[in-house]
Amino acid sequence: MLLFREKVPANWLPKVMANLPAVLVDHAHLERKAATSALNLEKYRDLYPRVEELNAIAIEELQHFQLVLDLLKKRGIPFGQPHPSAWVGGLMKSVRGGNRSQVIDHLICASLIEGRSCEKFQFLAEALKERDPELARFYASLVESEGNHYATYLLMAKAIDEGETDRRLDFYLDLDAKLMREPSELAILH
Ligand SMILES: [Fe+2]
Ligand SMILES: [Fe+2]
Repeated sequence: MLLFREKVPANWLPKVMANLPAVLVDHAHLERKAATSALNLEKYRDLYPRVEELNAIAIEELQHFQLVLDLLKKRGIPFGQPHPSAWVGGLMKSVRGGNRSQVIDHLICASLIEGRSCEKFQFLAEALKERDPELARFYASLVESEGNHYATYLLMAKAIDEGETDRRLDFYLDLDAKLMREPSELAILH
């Protein structure tokens, strides 16, 4: 059900597997930002009727954040600074101004971020099975939730304006593909 037009680059998984402690810190921030993002969407008039659903997503993301923090503690990995993601930055830079345009674009970006997380957590769950079964189970346990967030944000955008969402989704899927092809040496999830 994920609509992506470009595969995750071949060097992503080895890079991430070779830097798991740093990736877990990055993951903690990713969940923190996902919670913030759900709350930020509540500022749009078109989403006032969805405020409780957005709160529920924010709470779920905050729980994920806490789970990653628990893992960090258990493994003696200190919480650290977030790395900016060129991919997320590139998507968000294209969010247009104007009420209706902005909410649609913001929802599509949030949806694609959730979708890529869902996809990458699946890869990690598979790759970690032998080497780190606890972490593999953890990533597997998040896949469904992030997949639901991906679908929920996309459906929220379509409920506001289906035609405009389809047009912008086409634009954003091309942009995602272009950004995915940019080389990156950083061991981060996105
Ligand atoms: Fe999450
Ligand atoms: Fe999520």
